[in-house]
Amino acid sequence: MARGSVSYICQNCGAVYNRWQGKCDACGAWNTLAQEASGPPVPVPGASRAAARGKGRIFPLEGLQGASMDAPRVPSGIGELDRVTGGGFVPGSVILIGGDPGIGKSTLLTQAGAVMARAGHRVAYISGEEAVAQVRLRAERLGLNDAAVELAAETHVEDIVATLSHGVVPRLAIIDSIQTMWTSSVEAAPGTVTQVRGSAQALIRFAKTTGTTVILVGHVTKDGQIAGPRVVEHMVDAVVSFEGDSGYHFRILRAVKNRFGPTDEIGVFEMTGRGLAEVSNPSALFLSGRDLSAAGTAVFAGMEGTRPLLVEIQALVAPSSLGTPRRAVVGWDPSRLSMVLAVLEAHGGLKLGQHDVYLNVAGGLKITEPAADLAAAAALVSSLAGIALPADTVHFGEIGLSGAVRPVAQAQARLKEAAKLGFNRAVTPPPARDQGEKTPLAVTTASHIADLVARIAAGGRRNPRPSNG
Ligand code: TYD
Ligand code: MG
Repeated sequence: MARGSVSYICQNCGAVYNRWQGKCDACGAWNTLAQEASGPPVPVPGASRAAARGKGRIFPLEGLQGASMDAPRVPSGIGELDRVTGGGFVPGSVILIGGDPGIGKSTLLTQAGAVMARAGHRVAYISGEEAVAQVRLRAERLGLNDAAVELAAETHVEDIVATLSHGVVPRLAIIDSIQTMWTSSVEAAPGTVTQVRGSAQALIRFAKTTGTTVILVGHVTKDGQIAGPRVVEHMVDAVVSFEGDSGYHFRILRAVKNRFGPTDEIGVFEMTGRGLAEVSNPSALFLSGRDLSAAGTAVFAGMEGTRPLLVEIQALVAPSSLGTPRRAVVGWDPSRLSMVLAVLEAHGGLKLGQHDVYLNVAGGLKITEPAADLAAAAALVSSLAGIALPADTVHFGEIGLSGAVRPVAQAQARLKEAAKLGFNRAVTPPPARDQGEKTPLAVTTASHIADLVARIAAGGRRNPRPSNG
């Protein structure tokens, strides 16, 4: 493409086109192409004169052996945040934190910044969305006004970099949000993909050269992607998403990408009147308010990273008045629900073709583990049969298309957590070979989906409804 020509850039994924078109071929989004002038390439400061002449500089190559350092870390002082980042902020790293508007990103970062400032680190908070007074008001509400966080309401990246590079460079710089930033090194209008990418590049360069940890806040589109700067996700060291249902008080911090730590850990917070509070025992929170006598609920003993997490799975199976019965699911993968239903029909002897099926993970949590299959199946069978499952039982196990229940990882950790929370029984897959340990509660193995269906039916016969007797 000729320099300085006009191109059309998808504001969702960053794909570039020569002509306008209604739909982006790359990401499938409609009406997201915007005209942007592609300016001259961004000059890289510090590039050698040899490079400017078009010749490369010769640099030494090194072997894999040699002195390497463990990434030094600066703990934020907020345990659940450190768990997600892998033990604290790595100097010079750049973290992108995404989440719906109003989920609490600014609140979390104000708290993290204040705790770090109190620990004696220099912290800068640059807001492109709110005035300094608004940020102060939030800090006041959080009771953090006394922390020595340095505030500014700025959006011009070159000014920000110049200010932060002046004097002692900060340990942590928070940029709220990357979509509001603009750089004079590119010609596009503020808010466009080109601007966001250019601004992110400048801030990443600042982090790498000074050793400051930079946190970029990113907005999220309706379908949960960090808006515009999908491209930014590839440039930063870590991408963290802040999730939660606005109808609930708790929030989950999840690492999507992390060059310096794990990506399967979650941090759990509760939004209170005085900011975000850490939740150290999430299982108790997700199981609170359980209806113990209702049919159609099962407790799933899950794992989130290294931490076991118990959640309630609710199912409603009801005769349908529609030609094509409805299937709706919240917090779980709809295609997994279809699969479990198909297996229940084919191998469990259930007839579900004339029934609407609803499945819900209580509390607004999203489950991605296949180990939830058995608990979901138990909830579905319980609802269809109208038989409540014993309230002191947990379930876990993956269901195969043959109807076999397959072992899952970390069975012991799941059982221990269940025992800790007062559960007495567990329905599990047959033990894996390496799992010879004593179990802390009474374990029933279900090796096939038919075992599960038979057990639930037998439970109903053994405990007839009071009205029957
Ligand atoms: P905010 O951090 O501004 O969200 P974001 O930056 O992700 O857009 O948080 C906004 C919500 O949090 C707002 O609806 C009010 C609520 N909130 C509390 O419930 N308690 C608090 O102490 C604070 C500061 C905010
Ligand atoms: Mg905000």
